[in-house]
Amino acid sequence: MSTAIKVQRIDATKIHNIDFSNLTFGASFSDHVFIADYKNGEWNNFRIEPFGTISISPSAMALHYGQAIFEGMKATKALDGKPYLFRPEQHAKRLNRSAERLCMPSLPEQVFIDGLQALISLDQEWIPTIQGSSLYIRPFMFATDPFLGVRPANEYTFMIITCPVGPYYANPVKLLAETTYVRAVKGGTGEAKAAGNYAGSLLPTKLAQEKGYDQVMWLDGVHFEEIQEVGTMNLMFVINGKVITPKTDGEILKGITRDTILHILAYMNIPHEERVITISEVLKAKANGSLEEIFGVGTAALVVPVKELTYKDETILVETPTAASIGSILKKEIEDLRAGSVADKNGWLVPVVGIDVV
Ligand SMILES: Cc1ncc(COP(=O)(O)O)c(C=O)c1O
Repeated sequence: MSTAIKVQRIDATKIHNIDFSNLTFGASFSDHVFIADYKNGEWNNFRIEPFGTISISPSAMALHYGQAIFEGMKATKALDGKPYLFRPEQHAKRLNRSAERLCMPSLPEQVFIDGLQALISLDQEWIPTIQGSSLYIRPFMFATDPFLGVRPANEYTFMIITCPVGPYYANPVKLLAETTYVRAVKGGTGEAKAAGNYAGSLLPTKLAQEKGYDQVMWLDGVHFEEIQEVGTMNLMFVINGKVITPKTDGEILKGITRDTILHILAYMNIPHEERVITISEVLKAKANGSLEEIFGVGTAALVVPVKELTYKDETILVETPTAASIGSILKKEIEDLRAGSVADKNGWLVPVVGIDVV
């Protein structure tokens, strides 16, 4: 049975105020939001309302102790002109893994999926049709108890908001391997999509950007040797024809694009491996000529080539990818899957068909 969702529609759409050919990421929001409340040990009050400000107590626990998690995903229109989600159940599962780590309640996957179906179906006109554009979807959960004692909250809100975003041109990036600050350590919250992880990354990223880099590349917090990931992307290295990506063991976000790519590499018979990869190994591979590609993978840009990597006083340059590079092949395969121009054998593409609402 689908979730009973009450819908209050906006009086007049704001869509005509939006310039779809000139969208700033995360700045314009579509008409409606999905909301659910957690109280007395259960989720209820499932509703869709016009996007607007919300009211919470100044003592809401998320504001003080950071019980706040989120997801990031996209709806696109395929070549058939219809709206689709991509692996939404994986985002529901990851939200719940983040919730478990932050001692927050799990949200039934059906509520996540039904909320998405109802909201995206209602606001489907907001999915941009310009090639490469999409409707970015931000599901998130935060603690609302008005209480200042340090303990897990008893009350939470889950919401989904969406914003149309323009094509993301994946210009090759310059990375700085970070040797002062760390993003995550064993036993920490690195694998969760916790708001606080992003807060901690802002200062090192700002300092790196002031030096001309696009992003920092995180290393392990003990020896500053093992490569983790970059700001909002997992990393892949092509050495001697084999794609190597850091294994995820609690410190790295388990990217859904990373997982999709590992499946694609398997069905394309491209050699690949998930294992520890160190900065020394990458520098050595560059020195002996076996480093072929480095790229980041994530929802925002799918695949972003890395053109330069600096570790302490050593900078290595990576060749500009061609259409035959593994990164380019992987990007095209995901774009084609989302467009519906290659067969979706894994059932990753989920049509937005809506649900019956109250
Ligand atoms: C820290 C971090 N790593 C990796 C990713 C890539 O994950 P995904 O492919 O699920 O977007 C993201 C983006 O969600 C992220 O924030």
